[in-house]
Amino acid sequence: MNVSIKTNNLDAFWMPFTANRQFKKNPRMFVGADRMHYTTSDGCKVLDGTAGLWCVNAGHNRPKIVEAIQKQAAELDYAPAFQMGHPKAFEFASRLVAITPPGLDHVMFTNSGSESVETALKTALAYHRVKGDGSRFRLIGRERGYHGVNFGGISVGGIVPNRKMFGTLLTGVDHLRHTHDLERNAYTREMPEHGVELADDLERLIGLHDASTIAAVIVEPVAGSTGVLLPPKGYLQRLRQLCDQHGILLIFDEVITGFGRLGAPFAPDYFGVVPDIMVTAKGLTNGVIPMGAVFVKSEIHDAFMNGPEHLIEFFHGYTYSGNPMASAAGLATLETYQDEGLLTRGAELSSYWEDALHSLKGLPHVIDIRNVGLIGAIELEPIAGEPTKRAFSAFLDAYDKGVLIRTTGDIIALSPPLIIEKQDIDVLVDTLKGVLKALD
Ligand SMILES: Cc1ncc(COP(=O)(O)O)c(C=O)c1O
Repeated sequence: MNVSIKTNNLDAFWMPFTANRQFKKNPRMFVGADRMHYTTSDGCKVLDGTAGLWCVNAGHNRPKIVEAIQKQAAELDYAPAFQMGHPKAFEFASRLVAITPPGLDHVMFTNSGSESVETALKTALAYHRVKGDGSRFRLIGRERGYHGVNFGGISVGGIVPNRKMFGTLLTGVDHLRHTHDLERNAYTREMPEHGVELADDLERLIGLHDASTIAAVIVEPVAGSTGVLLPPKGYLQRLRQLCDQHGILLIFDEVITGFGRLGAPFAPDYFGVVPDIMVTAKGLTNGVIPMGAVFVKSEIHDAFMNGPEHLIEFFHGYTYSGNPMASAAGLATLETYQDEGLLTRGAELSSYWEDALHSLKGLPHVIDIRNVGLIGAIELEPIAGEPTKRAFSAFLDAYDKGVLIRTTGDIIALSPPLIIEKQDIDVLVDTLKGVLKALD
């Protein structure tokens, strides 16, 4: 077969969540990475202020993870995920439930955050059904929530451009109001004081639909992709109370917050609120091999373990659930986190991080700064009539100055690898200072 492929032709790849035409006129290509830095195709070093896409929590090119993948590829490349097993998936599952919050003792593997969300939503619906409570079919999400891009996720999610093109979505979904309140909470360090009453929105929806129709509520403990929205003090506790009171499952989407991002291993460790189902991905394998994991309480798992033993208990799963390479990468990632204390390192650095970020207050166009653990956000005043443009210019300028940031709307979101050092924080913030000062 004579196939001619034009190398370096950028046309064929329709890039995800990217301004394709802008990118292809002036591409930004990474060809290497080590610890805190990327290397670009023209040989420049770029400080990673975003842990890739919130996923490379242990930094890049970590030896244990690289070796584990190489070894696993040569030993067992693939094993069928259905009706067969391989030891690494079981070992990874056992090690994970040993560090997840108490009660979340069973885990299903997926290949991404989006798939983890679908798995969690389906599990919640099926759980009520196997318990004989099949009238609970409603799912409650939140405005501005991000739960990936599949149909369940965009239905419970609340980011308008992610939803508006796709018809009716899932039926039986409703949304809590979001918790962003610049007027009362701007420049708060960590959790905002005002807004606990927004959790009572769940009571409003219960009043409208009746609790007997509601299966689950899904929220990000800290909303990431919408631009880092922190829950008001007491908000998650109140949601937990209302869910308990009304027999509704609480799902935390921890795709971003899981694995040390808050300065604690998971959101329940930070907030003291344990969900019934916990959705993870990203930091699970340090972003190196795609994988997600959904943790459920034993009572949910056990409710399915009924009927004749030769029958499949839950008709759900993926060809690559618990894939050997991903399991090996995950085990080595956990070992790296534990060897280096990374799941709590954010707590040691968070006050330095916080002070550094808040030093940007007063620069042109900055209207809010938010932080928790090793997450930060700088909200900019949008250019009138051209939303997102100002932050996108900041992204391009920061890249030219050697720092990778992420922007969503007119918000700069920061989430560096958890191995970051104070001097890297200084470089990141000093660069941002220059970027912000130069913005139109
Ligand atoms: C909270 C949350 N849920 C789900 C997802 C989707 O994950 P993925 O892109 O791996 O499908 C993301 C991705 O950023 C996320 O932040």
